[in-house]
Amino acid sequence: MRLLLPLLLLAIGVYGLDNGLGRTPPMGWMSWTAFYCEIDCQKHPTGCINEQLYKDMADELVAGGYDKLGYKSVHIDDCWSEMVRDANGILVANKTRFPSGMKALAKYMHDRGLKFGIYEDYGTKTCGGYPGSYQHERTDAQTFAAWDVDYLKLDGCNIDQALMPIGYPLFEKELNDTGRPIMYSCSWPAYLIDHPELVDYNLIGKYCNTWRNFDDINSSWKSIVSIISYYDKMQDKHIPTHGPGKWHDPDMLVIGNKGITVDMSISQMTVWCIWSAPLIMSNDLRIIGDEFKAILQNQEAIRINQDPLGIMGRLVLNSTDIGTYVKQISPSKGDKKSYAFALLNRNEKRGYQNVEIQLSTLGLTDPSGYFVHDIWAHVDLGLLRPGDSISVNTAPAGSSFFRADVASLHRPMGRRPYKLDNSNVVYEFEKSQAQYERPDLSDYLKTNRVPF
Ligand SMILES: *[C@@H]1O[C@H](CO)[C@@H](O)[C@H](O)[C@H]1NC(C)=O
Ligand SMILES: *[C@@H]1O[C@H](CO)[C@@H](O)[C@H](O)[C@H]1NC(C)=O
Ligand SMILES: *[C@@H]1O[C@H](CO)[C@@H](O)[C@H](O)[C@H]1NC(C)=O
Ligand SMILES: *[C@@H]1O[C@H](CO)[C@@H](O)[C@H](O)[C@H]1NC(C)=O
Repeated sequence: MRLLLPLLLLAIGVYGLDNGLGRTPPMGWMSWTAFYCEIDCQKHPTGCINEQLYKDMADELVAGGYDKLGYKSVHIDDCWSEMVRDANGILVANKTRFPSGMKALAKYMHDRGLKFGIYEDYGTKTCGGYPGSYQHERTDAQTFAAWDVDYLKLDGCNIDQALMPIGYPLFEKELNDTGRPIMYSCSWPAYLIDHPELVDYNLIGKYCNTWRNFDDINSSWKSIVSIISYYDKMQDKHIPTHGPGKWHDPDMLVIGNKGITVDMSISQMTVWCIWSAPLIMSNDLRIIGDEFKAILQNQEAIRINQDPLGIMGRLVLNSTDIGTYVKQISPSKGDKKSYAFALLNRNEKRGYQNVEIQLSTLGLTDPSGYFVHDIWAHVDLGLLRPGDSISVNTAPAGSSFFRADVASLHRPMGRRPYKLDNSNVVYEFEKSQAQYERPDLSDYLKTNRVPF
């Protein structure tokens, strides 16, 4: 195997992953963290892994307007297949729980303008004990293409880690050979968490559109914070290897689940958007509260997540409880750069925390200044110069989130440019062209959080 590896990589390494997919982070819904491997449909008729569950969620994505905002994929996770392949070695969906079969389920999604994602595992078995793809790579890739699958999550249970640098690229080749564009999510680095020296994200990014690299998320603040801490620690390795077509995946959004408050939801959404991370929800969209839906559907947050530059934001300031993140966004041109920035209060117990921030300390130093907008409060702060400060009050386990459009590149849709004088900013909005007076910032955000 050791000898084979360089040869194989050479043979398929002549092209990188150039399937044109995932130019912005994937968005959708996946079953795992909300429904795990629940296969008892007698006991849990509306909460088991069966075709009805995925149809219900597809219907909710459309009826709830999620699809229009970008949440377009419905992803099956583990426990969907029968325990044995058929006589030809082909995977079969569980006939009781998926009586119409996977091709019909894909059609259900496609008929609604959605995409269809499936789950497999590179090993001999999936994590849940179902048939894995090892030594069936070609057959399974062909099967998924024949079923009109659009996205594959390939897990890494039950396989020798030394084989991963062979198996994950091999599977990519098999997917490519099908001729069907299939977005490819690899769990490869997640299984090398104890061997960071073996994780080469430049290599992984050549073969995978996105990849998990840390523990599975669950619906708890502890889990969210542990993922954020890991990403903080690894950011120098993550940031340069993240971008269009190659996304680090910190795992699913747990917003709307029991155990996750509104503030925690705001925090997960904020940080995932600052990172340009995949926004794949795992919750029950049939019963989600409006306050959580509003967080998932905040268009300004999504716009930052989906920014075409695809830059992963960076932790730039860190105190005991507060992490401050900055991400470059569009519009940017040469030295003129726009940014999103966020403050995360990791402490869920100690109450609101007030921080006075001068823009220049975040690297926002353009002398023309920035038009600053509070994304959760939906408040425009007008034009701020690098020397200006804002007072930011952040809830326990909550986050504050801003975009800052560099003034020298600000091009309102209307023809006339904005006008400036020393005391007032007259600033035209893209649509309303309303005029905004520069607010008195000394008071701003003392009790500012008006989420919706
Ligand atoms: C299909 O799923 C049901 C549970 O809903 C299970 O009892 C049955 O054994 C599964 N069938 C196969 C062939 O794996
Ligand atoms: C297969 O790979 C080639 C070369 O990278 C690429 O141009 C093509 O779009 C890929 N096709 C699919 C279906 O992924
Ligand atoms: C959730 O994740 C946290 C952090 O990894 C872990 O400590 C905790 O045990 C997990 N909870 C469950 C129910 O798995
Ligand atoms: C940020 O600060 C917290 C609290 O002191 C600490 O636990 C964490 O390791 C720090 N993160 C980084 C990346 O330095």
